[in-house]
This record gives sequence, structure tokens and C-alpha cells, in this order.
Amino acid sequence: MCGIVGYVGDRNMESVLLVGLERLSYRGYDSSGIATISGGELSYWRTPGKLHELEKVLQNMSIRGTVGIGHTRWSTHGEPTEVNAHPQVSTNGKVAIVHNGIIENYLSLKNKLSAEGFLFRSQTDSEVIAHLIDRYLQTDLAAAVERAVLDLEGTFAIAVIAENQPDRIIVAKKGSPLIIGVGKKENFISSDIHALAPHTKEIMYLDDHELAIIEANSVIVKKINGAQVTKEVHTITWDEVVADKGGYDHYMLKEIHEQPSVIRNIISKMVSPDNALIFDKLHISNGDLNKTNRLIIQACGTSWHAGLVAKYMLENYARVLTEVDISSEFRYRHMLSEGHAIVAAISQSGETADTLACLREAKSKFFKVLAFVNVKGSSIDRESDGVVYSYAGQEVGVASTKNYIAQLVTLYLFTIHLAVLRWTLSKEDAVKMTNALKRVPDCIEKILSQVEKIRAIAEKYAYSKEFLFIGRGVNYPSALEGALKLKEISYIHATGYAAGELKHGPIALIDKNLPVVCIATKSSTYDKMLSNIEEVRARKGRTIIIATEGDTSVQHLAEDIIYIPEIEEDLSPILVAVPLQLLSYYIALKLDCDVDQPRNLAKSVTVE
Ligand code: AGP
Repeated sequence: MCGIVGYVGDRNMESVLLVGLERLSYRGYDSSGIATISGGELSYWRTPGKLHELEKVLQNMSIRGTVGIGHTRWSTHGEPTEVNAHPQVSTNGKVAIVHNGIIENYLSLKNKLSAEGFLFRSQTDSEVIAHLIDRYLQTDLAAAVERAVLDLEGTFAIAVIAENQPDRIIVAKKGSPLIIGVGKKENFISSDIHALAPHTKEIMYLDDHELAIIEANSVIVKKINGAQVTKEVHTITWDEVVADKGGYDHYMLKEIHEQPSVIRNIISKMVSPDNALIFDKLHISNGDLNKTNRLIIQACGTSWHAGLVAKYMLENYARVLTEVDISSEFRYRHMLSEGHAIVAAISQSGETADTLACLREAKSKFFKVLAFVNVKGSSIDRESDGVVYSYAGQEVGVASTKNYIAQLVTLYLFTIHLAVLRWTLSKEDAVKMTNALKRVPDCIEKILSQVEKIRAIAEKYAYSKEFLFIGRGVNYPSALEGALKLKEISYIHATGYAAGELKHGPIALIDKNLPVVCIATKSSTYDKMLSNIEEVRARKGRTIIIATEGDTSVQHLAEDIIYIPEIEEDLSPILVAVPLQLLSYYIALKLDCDVDQPRNLAKSVTVE
């Protein structure tokens, strides 16, 4: 998952490209680079490391040019070095490309091109694209790109510039996102709309197997190896609130603290004053929802955890058989299509390659597809039959926090909606559940008021070599999520487990050095959970317990305890997530980790 950006026009090229890359850095930040053509000459600059490394290289240069492309990289092939950074260029340096995706047949192409005398310098898959274009280039760059991409297997969103036609960018797309921003006497391209928002709200979405010729005064789109197509220009209506840290040290901390307002915002958009639920983009008829006898949720990472929580609620209240699959697994197992099933994709970015691929496969098998997505205009948003937005606002921290909470809330509301439709929940009980949700923001604020206490606990355990997180029932996914948060920002190995599973193996891990985060909030499995914590203590495990306010019976089992307000069991994962987020944040901070842009990660995983 990389970010690509491009510009044709008279603005300051360096500024447009670097601002765009800054906004795309969530997609990968192993290296970055730009290429421009000025005075008929193509130049490029690229550096390993974060974007500020490139900015340091460029700061004393006056980059000119009326056409330029840029790239911020998450390494798939080849280490994050200068030679593997994009733009990748042809042997003669007259063609430059930036690429997001994976070229699966790059080795055979590389061998063939090398035998023909093309000089490869990098270990990347992307470099073959530059040489292929150079191989086919005569006078028309678009024709050369069109011919080159026909040789490619895999996924790509590419932007290409060349000295022989310095007034245009050629882009082509298959399987990775690519958007065209339409301006006045200028045009833009990007991996997503955030990079374009400062310049234009007029957007064209390129579809798979399409190519476009982008000049300052024109955009021509055609099918690859096919006819020209007319594309609709969409106007982004929603306000692009440019995320900034708002005085917090990190986006992640800011986004943790935004959670109460995110939930209030969701309620304001999805619950009317008389408690009617508003699902205005569902586009799946009540009849279809009613006869659905199987819901297949597929997602990745934190979104998958949200799906696991939803399963408990959907089966309990809507009485619908709910399967929850990791997208990269679901995609390769036989997708049985009998019965009235709906496939739900849960995704913050709406661009996760595995989740998107499952969605497309489900549609090809005539499933109805419902998306729970945060980024409007994303591929998953646009390609689903129905959508439930998370309304979490732009989430910049790579570790998902506020959007996870937003997913839990919107899935909770969807459960109520579906259950009422299916007559498995009375309207009175639906109102009770909706009113219970309205108490959650205040509860989160109460937890956030304990930040210093939670920070002290985090710092106490920060140098532990590994952690175990355990929970039961609807908070088993909370244990998984807590472990993921910790490992992805602090690089400490952490495992989430169903507490009842401890004695089937993991209990062997427990000793006096192992912190075990135990989720023991009031629940239908509370007593069982206490027994599991006893098992941990009997082996000298160090217990950090998340408990319900006022519960003193658990104190003797805790080395440290974090209390959260009493809440309905179904809503407890929303509250439990907050101390777990804060624990991870402050442990990572203590270890001086890059909280917002952890190593090896990116915010949107657009490669398989
Ligand atoms: C969450 O903290 C992680 N950054 C990651 O697991 C993420 O949830 C996963 O990549 C799915 O992303 P999506 O929600 O955008 O599809």
C-alpha cells in the first residue's frame, strides 16, 4: 500500500507534490520521491525514510516543472533504500513511473527485459513498468503505457511522465485506487481524495482496466485496449476536515480523546429525536434484510475484531446466523452461496485489498454486499450495494482507535435495526438499547479522566517482553484488539485469547514476568472469568484487570486494576477498548516508538 500523487499545471510543483505526499503518508512511509519535467528534462529525487527526509533534500532546490509525480512507499519488494524508492525510471532516465500495487509476474518480465539490454537497478517489482514503457515508447506515451500494462499481471495504479511528451501524465489502474482531481487549467491524480482536497473537490474515479491522459486542460479516459469512456465528475460534498493534532502529542492520542464526540456525531446522524434509526444508504430492501438467514462478515485487523463483536449481538438480537471471516482467508475458501446470505465488508479505509477482493468475489456470486466503511468515495464504498458509514472523520493514526469504536456503534445500531425488521426485538426494547448507547460518550469521558492512572500502569509494565490479553464472550474480541493495539505500536509481542482457552495451552506461558490483561467487567461470564484469573494468579501471573466500577470482589486478584463505568454487556467492548488503547499508547510512548507511524505498517493495506 503506497501513495501516488501527480500534478499538471502552473502551481509550485514541489509544494503540490509534497503536500499531497504528506496527506498520503498514512499509506506507507518507508521512502518517498518525486519526478518532474522542466525545460524538456526529467529530474527525480528520492530518499529512504519518512517524507521529511525528502523535504530536507529538496529544501535548497527550486524545483520547476509543469508536470510531476510523487510517491510514498510501503515496501513490498526490496528494502526501503534510495534505489528501491519511487519514482522508478527507465534505463535512459527519460521515463519515470510511480506505482501502487504488486506486479506478480515481474520476475519473468525482468529477466526478459534484462536479456534485451534494459538495465535494472532496484529489487522492486515496479521497475519493470518503467522499462516496459520505454520498450514500447515511440512517440505516443499513452500508447506505450497501454501496451505495457497489457503485459502486467497483478495490481497497479501507476502514473507515468516522459520527456518526449512533457505536458501530460498517463495513469492506469487495475486493483489499486486512483482518483483524478479536476481543476481549472490544472489537473491532479492521487491514491485518495485526501491529497486532492486542498486543491479541488471535483473528482473522477478511475475504474479498473482504465487509462487516462491527464493534461492541464483536458482529461481523456479510455478502457485499456478499448474505447474512450466518459467519466462522471463528482463533487465532494463532505467537508474535508484536515486532520491536525489539535494540541495532542500524537494523532492517536487525539483520536482516542475524540471518541466521545465521534459517538455523539454518529447518534446525531443515525438516531432521530424520536429514536428512529436512520440508514439512508443501506439500499438493501427490508424484504431482503428480513429473509436473510446468513450474514457473512469479512474484514481485516481491527475491523475483523469489530465483526467478531457484532456476531454476538446479531445472533443474540437479530437471530441471524453470522459468520466472521478474515478477508485474506475468506477469499480463498469456497464461498458457499446457498440461502439468502448477505456479505458484509467492514473497513475503515475502504481500500483494504483483501476485503475489497472478497467484496468483488461475493458480488460475482450474486451476494448482496453491505459495507461498514469510514472513507466516503473509497472503493469499498462505491462498489457495495449498501453502505453504513462510520462517521468517525479522518483517522490518521495507523493504529485504529476512534474508527473501531465507530464501527462497534454502527454495528450495534444496525443490529437493532435488523432485529426490529425481523420481529426479534420489540420497538420498546430497541429504544431501550438506543438509549443505553446514548450513555456511552459520558462513560468514555469518565475513563479518559483516568489517563494519568492508566499511564502510570502502562509505564510500570512497559519493559515487559510480552503480554497476554484474555476475555470472554463479547470481550474475547476486546482481548484480541487490545493485543493488536499493543503489538502494532510498541512492537512488544502480545496475544489475545479467549480466557476459557488458557488451560488448553497458553497457561504454560504464565509466570511471574508475564503481564496478563484480564477483561473482567460485569457480564454473563463474569464468574468464569474470575476463575480464569485465579488460574493466572496461581501461577504468579501479573494481572492487570479491567473491571466494572464498584466491583471490589475482584481486587484481591489484581496487581493493578482499571475501572470502567457499569454498562450493558453488549456495549462493554466500546468502553473496554479505551483503557486498552491508552495502555498501548503509553507503553509505546515510554519505549519511544513512533506511535502514529509504526514501523513496517501503513494505514491502508492496499496490497494483498
Ligand atoms: C488497526 O489498528 C490496524 N492498523 C489494522 O489492523 C487495520 O484495522 C486493518 O488493516 C484493516 O484496515 P481497514 O479497516 O481500513 O480495512
